[in-house]
Amino acid sequence: MKIVTKGFASAMALTVGLAGAARAEDVEVLHWWTSGGEAAALNVLKEDLASKGIGWIDMPVAGGGGEAAMTALRARVTAGDPPTAVQMLGFDIQDWAAEGALGNLDAVAAAEGWDAVIPGALQRFSKYDGHWIAAPVNVHSTNWVWINKAALDAAGGKAPETFDELIAVLDAMKANDLTAIAHGGQPWQDATLFDALVLAEGTDFYKQAFIDLDPAALGGDKMAAAFDKLIKLRSYFDSNFSGRDWNLASAMVINGEAGMQFMGDWAKGEFLKAGKVPGTDFICIRFPGTQGAVTFNSDQFAMFNVSGEGKLAAQAAMATAIESPTFQSAFNVVKGSVPARTDVPDTAFDDCGKKGIKDLAEANTNGTLFGSMAHGHAAPASVKNATYDVITAVVNGEYSDGATAAKALADAVAAAQ
Ligand code: BGC
Repeated sequence: MKIVTKGFASAMALTVGLAGAARAEDVEVLHWWTSGGEAAALNVLKEDLASKGIGWIDMPVAGGGGEAAMTALRARVTAGDPPTAVQMLGFDIQDWAAEGALGNLDAVAAAEGWDAVIPGALQRFSKYDGHWIAAPVNVHSTNWVWINKAALDAAGGKAPETFDELIAVLDAMKANDLTAIAHGGQPWQDATLFDALVLAEGTDFYKQAFIDLDPAALGGDKMAAAFDKLIKLRSYFDSNFSGRDWNLASAMVINGEAGMQFMGDWAKGEFLKAGKVPGTDFICIRFPGTQGAVTFNSDQFAMFNVSGEGKLAAQAAMATAIESPTFQSAFNVVKGSVPARTDVPDTAFDDCGKKGIKDLAEANTNGTLFGSMAHGHAAPASVKNATYDVITAVVNGEYSDGATAAKALADAVAAAQ
């Protein structure tokens, strides 16, 4: 049975939608934004669409990194009933486009000049075969540390800039009877931390290992060193880390039970939702050793092939709403991410947001901006999942030395290609 229609939805139909000739139907949106901070950000989108007369049919599938959402999506497409729009990351977008399952946003993109304002690093995923297939809503990055300010003050007050300084702060937090690191033991969270450890071994190394998938880099000394650091860091987790959701780990830092969390900047959404203020209640720093570099992931809404002018008009209207500079600011201020356009002022953002915007622009200019392996922007899902298996085995104590883990990683990635 053929489950997806080949080819692009007609650009003409989208033009009709743009001109408002067809009434936009409600949008059914599949996403994994189910935590408090994520839901608050999603509300900004729902309300924006409601103000334009477009209703929202919610299809939430919990699970950071989106693995469960992607499984649910496959089932819907197999049943011949894709949702209107789907939150999606990096290579997954390209995979669906290659199956011919996605629509075409060229008309909206051309009318609104997306080419000029959406960075090339995002366009690489939002376009397939030269055509716009997804609307990027934000840019997140994974190499952040979220630290409880009072816990840091009690541990000497200086934010760590190197791995050795990090260990000294963690030891001091432990001595103060805190869980030094709030971690959720789920493969995507383990991998989020590992993005930062690999990047800390050098930007060239991150590229060789995770973007170019060079077997010598994957199985070599620097990868062994990154795994040894992961083995060291896991000794600062509490005994209940296994399976914990990321937002519950954030909550441990928010309420002062834990010292810090290594997590993407969606964590900031949780701190803000809890009424916490950056610089006062918590601080955000780049993972020690990764200053000046960024591992990013961008949430995009991929539009599936749907038929009917009302549905196509809804897709076009949603894409337009998402790329509006006002929406980009309002949404990303709440979500913890930074705008997907380069022309959105940072005025409404807090200090962490301003830093995020500046870091991203500098990394882009300096050639130190790389796709996150953990969040599907470095390599296709098969390779990403192979890295998850080895990283999680290390976190679960199955390897006692980094060199053996690095060899296993090189083998797993080779087998996955
Ligand atoms: C997404 C974020 C989301 C996070 C946790 C990431 O993969 O890009 O938008 O907040 O997962 O659910």
